Formats: sequence, C-alpha cells, structure tokens
Amino acid sequence: MCGIFGIVTKNEQPLGNILAEAAQRLTYRGYDSVGAATISGAKVDLRKDVGRVKDVAVKYNFAEMSGQRGITQLRWATFGEPSQINSQPHLDSDGDLVGAHNGNVVNNVELRQQFIAEGMTVRSMNDGESCVHAVERYINRGEGFIDAIRHAYDDLQGDYSFVIGSITDDKLYAFKKGSGLVVGLGEDFSCVSSDLPSILPLTRKIMRLNDGEIITLWHDRVELHSVKDGSLIAREPELVTETMEAVQKGGFSHFMLKEVHEQSQVAREVLHMLDGSPDVASVVEKMKNARNLYFIGCGTSYHACLTGAVYFAQLAGRPVIPVLAPQFMPQYAPTVNAQDVGLFVSQSGETKDVLNALEVAEARGMTCFGLANVIGSTLTKATVCSLPLCCGYEISVPATKTFTNQVVSFLYLAYRLAGRDTKELETIPALMDKTLEMVSEQVETIAAEINSWNDLYCLGYGATYPIALEGALKLKEITYAHCEGMLSTEFKHGPLSAVTKGFPILFAAGPNDLPLLVSGLNEVTCRGARAIAIGQDDPRLHANASDVIVIPDSTPEIAALLAVLPLQLLSYHMSVLRGYDPDFPRNLSKTLTVD
Ligand code: G6P
Repeated sequence: MCGIFGIVTKNEQPLGNILAEAAQRLTYRGYDSVGAATISGAKVDLRKDVGRVKDVAVKYNFAEMSGQRGITQLRWATFGEPSQINSQPHLDSDGDLVGAHNGNVVNNVELRQQFIAEGMTVRSMNDGESCVHAVERYINRGEGFIDAIRHAYDDLQGDYSFVIGSITDDKLYAFKKGSGLVVGLGEDFSCVSSDLPSILPLTRKIMRLNDGEIITLWHDRVELHSVKDGSLIAREPELVTETMEAVQKGGFSHFMLKEVHEQSQVAREVLHMLDGSPDVASVVEKMKNARNLYFIGCGTSYHACLTGAVYFAQLAGRPVIPVLAPQFMPQYAPTVNAQDVGLFVSQSGETKDVLNALEVAEARGMTCFGLANVIGSTLTKATVCSLPLCCGYEISVPATKTFTNQVVSFLYLAYRLAGRDTKELETIPALMDKTLEMVSEQVETIAAEINSWNDLYCLGYGATYPIALEGALKLKEITYAHCEGMLSTEFKHGPLSAVTKGFPILFAAGPNDLPLLVSGLNEVTCRGARAIAIGQDDPRLHANASDVIVIPDSTPEIAALLAVLPLQLLSYHMSVLRGYDPDFPRNLSKTLTVD
C-alpha cells in the first residue's frame, strides 16, 4: 500500500538522502513506484519512476536534491497503471503546488473530469493527483491552505491521507481521513508520515492524528485544525519509548495478532479499490462469458478459491472450477482453450506452483487474470490484468488478512456478476470488528482448554467448508498439531471412529445449514466429543453443541467469512500457549518459489 513522508527544515539543505531513506523505511508496505520532490525558493524539483527505491534514487540522483521542504511517496497502483506519470508526488496545473497521497479517492474518475472541464492540467490517471487539484481548485479561488483543504475534503471521497506544499509558503500541510498519518517533531525539523516506524529513526517526539484533522508543519512547531470548522485543536506531543520492533507490532504481541486485527481496515480498502477500479467490469464480463472459469491457487489462497466458487454458484449461478495449481496441469490444462478464463490467486504472486500453472494456461491461450497482494510480483506482471488485495505487507507467515481480502474480493466479484448492489458489502468491516470483539475472550479460554489435544477436526459445509479447511490449515501451520479440515457430512464416513471423550471438533456453521449441522453435532457429542460450533446466535446451536462461539448476524456468505476469524485466533492462542512463535513457524516459508 502507498506510503507518504514529508519534512520541513529550518533552512535549505540536502534532503534527497533523507527522503530516500524515509521511503526505504516505508517499503515494507509494498509498492511499485517511488518519487521525491523538494521545494527550494520558487522551484520544485520532482523526480519519480516505477521501480525499487534504491534503483530509482540512484537513477534519478536523489542525493543531489535539496530544499527546505521535501515529500516522498511510495505508490502501490490502484488508479492508473504503474508508470512514471502516475507515480507520485504530483504537481498542480502550473507547478506551484506539489503533493502526494496514501489511500484511495473513490470518486477519482469523476473528479478528473471536473478538473479537466475547469481548465486544470491533469497529467495522470492517479488519484493522488486529484488530491492536489482538489486543493488547487480552492487556492485558485483565493482561499488559504486550511480552508482549501477543508473544501477539498468535501470533494474527495474515500479513505486517504495526503501531504502538500507550495512554492509560495514555507510550510507543509497534511490531512488524514481513514489512512494513517503521524507527525514527528525534531531538532529544527518536523515531519509527517503514513506510519510511526518510518519516523522513529528521526525523532521519538511524535503526535498522532485523528481522522478529520489538518496539520500545518513549520520547522519548529506544528498546528492542528479541524476539517469541520477550521477550529484549532490543542494536542501535546508524546514521547515514544517502546522498541522499534514493538512499535512495528503496533502494541500487539505478534504480527499475526496485529494482522488479524487489521482485517476490517484492509477489507474497507479493497472494497473501495474494487469500486473505483476500471478493470473490474471487464474482468466480470470475461468471467460471465467464459466457457469454463477456473480459480487457481495453493494453500490458503486455494481455500479462498473454494469459497469464491461457492459464492459464484450461489449468488450468480455461475459454475466455477476451483483447483490447486499443480493439479491444474494434469487435470485441466490439456482441455483448456482461448474461450476459458482463469483467475490465479496468490498472496505473494511468486508461488512457483501457481506460476507453473499460469505458464501452461497462457500457452494454451486461456485468458489469465490475477488476484495478488504483492503488486509488481511475477503473477501481476504475467497476467492480462491483476486485481490488488490492498493488504499492505503481511509479515506473519500464516496468511490472515490476505485470505479475508481474497474472500471479500470474490464476494464483490460474485455480486457484480449477479448484478447485485455491492453497497451491501460495506457492512463487512464493522462486522469483522464486532466479531473480534464478541469472540476474543471466549476463544482464548477454549484454546487453553483444548490445547493438550494434538488431533483435531474442523468441519464445515457449503461456504463454510473451505473456511473449515482454512481453520485447519492455520492450526496445523502454527500449533504443529494435526488438524483435519473436512466437509461436515463426511465425518461419519470414517473419522467418527477417532472420537473419544473430550475430542475437540470445530464446526463452522452456516446460518442456512443448521438442520444438517444439528445431526453432525449430535453424531459426535453422543460419542463424547466436544463439539465447538462457530455460528450466529441460534437456539439450535446452543441446544446441540458443547460450546457456541457466537458471531454477529449477517448474510450466509458474510457469515462464512466471519467464521474464519475465531479460527485464526484459536490457532494463534494455541500456538502461543505451546511456546511457539506463530509469526515464524518451523519449516514454513511465506513465499514458496520452488516446486
Ligand atoms: C506457502 C505459505 C502459505 C500460502 C501458500 C500459497 O505455503 O506458507 O501460507 O498459503 O504458500 O502462497 P501464495 O503466496 O501463493 O498465496
């Protein structure tokens, strides 16, 4: 995801290396392009391109850039392909203003048309440029910066933060709405950035911003205004004392727990991105008309493919063949042709098994789309079009937020295919937060109670079947216990013989499948098993399960998505209780680039 950094110093000084280093510290967020701008006197020096920070900084000699103000940005393409012109920062029409943003402006397409109609010079497709023109619009009408930003805020829809400066002013201004923004106060400088870890090497005196706040940065002070009425907000800076690692974990004990709690935010971002993406309509159209449609992935990404296939069938009546990438080659590759469409799904975009299948599919003329988190990865470059997962960097080896955003993306595409209003999906982020709030304590207790078992089952049916597979995979990955994910109706065809007193069996319960589930629950509880159901509050669950982990009411499709959250937490707590590091499980790698 994008990252921004801006700095204001007392006098003009070399800023290029400071900006390059700040950009480097933001790289963990994932990016495809980088840019830097310095302002000295009435001159803006702007250098930017697609590529790695160290390569672009060397190619464009960032080291020689100097100024009294500087801005750098890492871009992760959503509006406009990765290209030099779409890279950030951006200038306004006559080059007086320079700015960069982080996040998504969802009405970017409409705004660009307005700016062009108003006679402004719009150079790129990127929504960061729209932030600059939105401010320019009001500066041109004679407003000061604070009022111009306040009015620009009314025009810019979405979740974003931006930083902007002018050649006629010795300050920088930044604004936050939905995306992160932190201010740092140092000796003779102040700075602002998308996140704290990128500021800490410069200063530990910081100020956190809330949504709807505008910060003005001088070299020796800052001033905070409310976007609502322009009033001044009083806030004292704070001193950060934690270690860098603790700060990176955002107060959580592990990256996995932090990433579990980031799921609502990234779900919001991917929904915004999909709403604004010019690619979605053509991807959906191709899927609709395909002879056969394949969803292809490995591990967790394959479980998302399975969930997507259920959504497509149930919501849009579109059959899909979900397939593990290596099995695609012997089973389907010999039969595919140019009338078929494949969606290749991968967090890393580098999984060799997936790339092998992609190569074979492309050789046979199949239309290949991607769904990946790492923009600029091999998968995103090799496919006709790749939709980003917008999760930022996922550090913990077990995939959590990337899985849920894959599932959210599938649900969004199924809605589009079915012609349903995707606004209904906007409830998802709040439901995810509510789920974590409702289940966290209970799941921790259950984790301690069942932790001595090294054999478990996790069952589901319909849309919750792949969720059960995913829950079982999480448990295997980080607790090292054997947990088998299975269709709930299959349990009686064999595994039932394993049941002894207290044997833990997890059931992910879809709200429409309860009658079927009730039989499954009784088959195991009457033999002494501990049946732990995850589902919406329903007397049938309470009457038939040993424990019920209640998740909020929603649609059956969203309920499946929510059911994975307690399973992620359960595996996390069991892993920690066993003394393991859930972030870095033994023998596993986040990106498997081997056969
Ligand atoms: C590895 C990881 C899994 C992941 C799988 C697919 O096995 O350990 O967590 O699900 O690769 O990765 P991808 O990047 O293609 O989604």
